[in-house]
Amino acid sequence: MYPGLEGVEVKESEICFIDLENSKIWYRGYDLEELAQYSTYEETVYLLLYGRLPTVGELGEFSKKLAAHRRLPSHVYDLVTNAPKSGEPIDVLRTAVSAMALGEDLSDKSPEAELSRGVKILASMPLAVAVFHRARDGQSAITPEGAESHAEYYLWALRGERPTARETRAMDVMFIIYAEHSMNNSAFTAVTVSSTLADMYAAITAAIASLKGPLHGGANVDAARMLEEINRIGNVEKWVDSQLAAGRRIPGFGHRIYKRGPDPRLRVLKSLAGDLAAERGDYKWLEIAQRLEEYVGSKLSQKGIYPNTDLYAAVIFKYLQLPVDMNLPTFAIARAAGWVAHVVEYRRANRLIRPTERYRGPARLRYVPLSQRETPTASVG
Ligand code: CMC
Repeated sequence: MYPGLEGVEVKESEICFIDLENSKIWYRGYDLEELAQYSTYEETVYLLLYGRLPTVGELGEFSKKLAAHRRLPSHVYDLVTNAPKSGEPIDVLRTAVSAMALGEDLSDKSPEAELSRGVKILASMPLAVAVFHRARDGQSAITPEGAESHAEYYLWALRGERPTARETRAMDVMFIIYAEHSMNNSAFTAVTVSSTLADMYAAITAAIASLKGPLHGGANVDAARMLEEINRIGNVEKWVDSQLAAGRRIPGFGHRIYKRGPDPRLRVLKSLAGDLAAERGDYKWLEIAQRLEEYVGSKLSQKGIYPNTDLYAAVIFKYLQLPVDMNLPTFAIARAAGWVAHVVEYRRANRLIRPTERYRGPARLRYVPLSQRETPTASVG
């Protein structure tokens, strides 16, 4: 038995290697830290989807393709515009992706057909999120003309004005860092759904549903709410003590894979958070996160609990002035690249995912007619 499937290898993959020994993450053999420094999200997506870095011409073509797909079918546009304002943006995004399938011919089940659906979905996710966000604020949608990247397009469509080059680059780095992370719960969900030969829309819809949970991507919203609740560096210890005393987990800490040392992505995230804090002359959120890291570390590092990406992502998104509940769809927009890559890779040698379980329930009970049953001592709920 493998509770939580810990340590179980479910497929061979050429997409992402988490090198625990050297504290490194490699996307298709390339060091993620180098990609975060020198690459762009578009180039990284190309690498993840097509298996190698593009040439100048290929990257230009791919960027054009993404730009051409940054639109929503009219029924999806209406759906996100009219979604209840109180709806969570991640739920609106999940519903939008599901609705994108309507009216499409989904009969071709080849990896190539799923890949081109994946590119369409990935390209249109920022607009779906931004249209909803602006509609709930009573603002009309913006479709930025002339945005030079996915990151710039997203921030511009959300805010209604062009972000600075520095903000765009920070979001681009976040997209690269969040783009892929091996066989995490949402990637596994996407692959599991796709293994039935369900289409890419179904797989990505399910992956977004998985990402939402607070043990997975939802932690980047909880971590941001934690920073806001704490609000002053002097409150950190009291806040952590009260959470632990109540038996609650600290968002942004702990990881299934990183139990013997911190997540390698933190090096990039901490440096980016530091740069943004310095540029803004506002160290508050960074300092709260650093104090959290020290204090939670002093209490929990003996259990193998270190900060995870969601703690510093929350700090970075604070400095980018993202509304807190946008942290999670922002993660989904980036991670779509990894989901698509895994689904396409698995589809090339598909086998239905169908695990088993160990039965531990009662055996050989005799059916008692309804009229003869006695009230059980404990109710079954
Ligand atoms: N705060 C306090 N205690 C914790 C935490 C935490 N954040 N995480 C784990 N623990 C404790 C847990 O209570 C357990 O203690 P004990 O052995 O005394 O019962 C021990 O550590 C092991 O926990 P586990 O649940 O067996 O560990 P896991 O590998 O199944 O869980 C995790 C990993 C991410 C679900 C968990 O660390 C957690 O709930 N973290 C908080 C939520 C979070 O930040 N999630 C984001 C994960 S990384 C990004 C992503 O996936 O998107």
